[in-house]
Amino acid sequence: MSLTQTIELPNGVKYEQPLGLFINNEWVNSVDGGSFEVINPTTEKVITSVQEASEKDVDIAVKAARAAFEGEWSQVTPQDRGRYLNNLADLFEKNRLLLASVEALDNGKAVSEAQGDVQAAANVFRYYGGWADKVHGKVIDTAPGKFNYTKQEPVGVCGQIIPWNFPILMWSWKIGPAIATGNVVIIKSAEQTPLSALVAATLIKEAGFPPGVINVISGLGRVAGAAISAHMDIDKVAFTGSTPVGRMIMKAAANSNLKKVTLELGGKSPNIVFDDANVDDAISWVNFGIFFNHGQVCCAGSRIYVQEGIYDKFVEAFKARITKNVVGDPFHPETFQGPQVSQLQFDRVMSYIEHGKQEGAKIECGGGRHGTSGYFIQPTIFSNVTEDMKIMQEEIFGPVASIAKFKTLDDAIRIGNNTTFGLASAVHTTSLATAIDVSNRLKAGTVWINTYNALHHQLPFGGYKESGIGRELGKAALANYTQTKTVCINLAGGKD
Ligand code: NAI
Ligand code: MG
Repeated sequence: MSLTQTIELPNGVKYEQPLGLFINNEWVNSVDGGSFEVINPTTEKVITSVQEASEKDVDIAVKAARAAFEGEWSQVTPQDRGRYLNNLADLFEKNRLLLASVEALDNGKAVSEAQGDVQAAANVFRYYGGWADKVHGKVIDTAPGKFNYTKQEPVGVCGQIIPWNFPILMWSWKIGPAIATGNVVIIKSAEQTPLSALVAATLIKEAGFPPGVINVISGLGRVAGAAISAHMDIDKVAFTGSTPVGRMIMKAAANSNLKKVTLELGGKSPNIVFDDANVDDAISWVNFGIFFNHGQVCCAGSRIYVQEGIYDKFVEAFKARITKNVVGDPFHPETFQGPQVSQLQFDRVMSYIEHGKQEGAKIECGGGRHGTSGYFIQPTIFSNVTEDMKIMQEEIFGPVASIAKFKTLDDAIRIGNNTTFGLASAVHTTSLATAIDVSNRLKAGTVWINTYNALHHQLPFGGYKESGIGRELGKAALANYTQTKTVCINLAGGKD
C-alpha cells in the first residue's frame, strides 16, 4: 500500500500527503490492509484513501506508547517536554499555510479561518510547553516526626478521539496538556477529516519527541475508536464528539479497566439579547455565534432569545446582516461559510430544517441547499420558535438559527436553562447587574457577556450537565492528565 500521495491544492500549495499510520515515529501500513476514502466536501469527490487502523493496529500503537512511557519518555525532563512542545508550536507556525490548506480541502472551512485554527493550535502548544516544568505537588504537615508530600504524576497511556469540526485545533487541545504532564498518546482523527492530523504527524519527530510518545492513527469510530475505549492497557480516554458516543465511551471504560474518562460533548447554547443591548454589536455576535464554522461548533449559540422590546427590529436587522455572510469555495478569500463536512451532516441539517418548517416555525430566510454541488446549505433563520420544537431542543450542528421572544429576566433564565446540555451561553446587555445576575444563574460551563465563541487557551472550557466531564484548556486541563500520589514518611520511626 502507498504511504504518501502528492496533492496539489487550488491555491497552488503542493505537498506529500502521508496516508499510513504514524506509530513509534514511523509511517507504517495497517496490518490488515484496510483503508477508507477521504471526501472533499466542496466537490463531493474522493481526494485519496488513507489507511484504516483496526483493533490490531490500535494494539500495536498502545504497545509502542507503553514502551515509551515506561522507558525513554520517563527519563525526559519536564523542561525538555516543554522544549519539544515549543518546537512543535514553531513548526505549526512555519507550516501554517500548508496545514490550513489541507484543512480547507478536507473539512471545507475557509483557508483564512483554518489559518486561525493553526495559529490557535500553536498557541496551545506554547502555553502547555510553558506549564511542563511548573506542575508540582505540596508538602502537607500532619504531625511532628512525619513528612508528607504529594506528587502530580502522569496518568500514562492516553487514547484521544477527536471530531471533524476543528481537526487540527482539537489535535492540539488533546496533545498539549497530555504531553506537558508526561503522558504518551494515541490520537485518532475523525474519519471525515483525517488529512491534517497526518500532516501534523510529520512534524512530531522533527520537534524532538522520542518514538512512541505521540502516535497518530486514522480509523473509524466503531472500529478504532471502540478499540481505544475498551483497551485494557489504555489508562485514560479523552473524547470530543456527540453525546451518544460519549455515553458509549464511558460504558466501554466501565466495562474494561475503568480507564479515566474526560468528555467534551454537544450543546444547545442560549444566546440572550436584552432590550438594553447594543443591537448592532449583539447582531454581530449572534451571527458569529451561530454561523461561525458553518454552525458546526459544539458551543454554537443555536438558541437565540431576544427580549420583546427589540424583537421585531432585531429579526429584520439580523436577516439583513446574514446576506453579508459569503457562502462558497473555502479557497476563495471572501468566503465566510463553506460546505458542511459530509453528505451525512448535510442530510442531518436539512432534515432539521424540514422539521422546523413542519412544526410551524417561521422561516425568515434560507432553508435550502446552496448551489447544486458540494454540501452547502443556505444560512437559515427560523423565528417564532417554541420550546417544544425539535429545532429548539436538539443540536443541529449546521447554519440554522432558531429565534424566540422573551419578556422578563426570569423568563430568560428559565428558558436558557431549559436544556439537557450546558456547554456555553451568552448574554448581551449594557447593564452590569443584568449581566452578572444572568451569568450566575445560567447552568453552563462558559458564559459570554457581549461576545461569543471567545475561546482562549488560558480559559477553561467544558460542559455542565450532558455536555461533558472535565475541562479543557487553561490550567484546568492539567487535572485531566495527572494523578496525585501521596507519600507519607515516618521520620521518627516506631509507631504512634
Ligand atoms: P461522533 O461522536 O460519531 O464522532 C466523533 C468522533 O468519535 C470521531 O472520531 C468518531 O470516529 C468517533 N467515534 C464514533 N463512534 C465511536 C465509538 N463507538 N467509539 C469510539 N469512538 C467513536 O460524531 P458524528 O457522527 O461525526 O457527528 C454527529 C453529531 O455529533 C453532530 O451532528 C454533532 O451534533 C455532534 N458533534 C459534536 C462535536 C463537538 O465538538 N462536541 C463534534 C462532532 C460532532
Ligand atoms: Mg473530508
